[in-house]
Amino acid sequence: MPDAILVLQLEHRKIAKVLNLLKQQLTEIERNEPADRHLLQSALDYLSGYPDQCHHPKEDLVYRKLVARFPELTESLKELGEEHEELAYRTRSLRQTLSEWQQGPPAGNVTLVDQLRAFVDNYRLHMQIEEQHFFPMALQRLSRDDFSEIDFTLFDKLNQSLDQEAEARYGELHAAITQLGNADKADTEQREEAARLATFQDMAAFNDAMQHEGEPVKLVRLAGGGYALEGKGRTIARIPECSETRAAWCAYFFWKATTMKRATR
Ligand SMILES: [Fe+2]
Ligand SMILES: [Fe+2]
Repeated sequence: MPDAILVLQLEHRKIAKVLNLLKQQLTEIERNEPADRHLLQSALDYLSGYPDQCHHPKEDLVYRKLVARFPELTESLKELGEEHEELAYRTRSLRQTLSEWQQGPPAGNVTLVDQLRAFVDNYRLHMQIEEQHFFPMALQRLSRDDFSEIDFTLFDKLNQSLDQEAEARYGELHAAITQLGNADKADTEQREEAARLATFQDMAAFNDAMQHEGEPVKLVRLAGGGYALEGKGRTIARIPECSETRAAWCAYFFWKATTMKRATR
């Protein structure tokens, strides 16, 4: 799988976990239980940062490449670009409602609940459509050369400070995300994955885990920047310049996808 789509999928996993937190807080408010206001604020701060300013623009690069190569796809894809603007607007608007709710009377619950529910549902639907239609379409239609022209590395470098800020914010939310996984007994897989990802703080931790499990892969730093996931003397995937934690997570999802694909053959 080309790196660009892998990076986008990894970011979707993180956004989905933050949306789960928002949904959990929504349920608390609906039950008239005390919501965690700080957590709500952090989750919305995260969503108005990296996803709005980096994730969606990266997808826009893939979108622009697709319609440049296949103009006939313009009509079927144009809603995705519009939805990015809509999501950014909804995030800003929800942050405003949240700050009013934090100062105002309990009557403000109704507006916040309605807005929060619509927000989570819309965001999930948007990502679902991308996962089911947009990403597969890009994978099917774009060539390796097309993907190599989609330069996320440059994008990440330009937004390095924003990326670091997002990592820090996500770190703040991480304990709650892990707790949520623990509380949700029905979703064993998600819980295990959250715990597993939490151990991959850097390249060494990832490599140790792979070696311990007898997986024939290793994550290495590249002299020119970025990382490579190597196995059996060849490069399995290249990962653009980013933090070691992000690279380890990216390598994990890539390897997981590769082994799952092999298992279903
Ligand atoms: Fe998107
Ligand atoms: Fe997306």
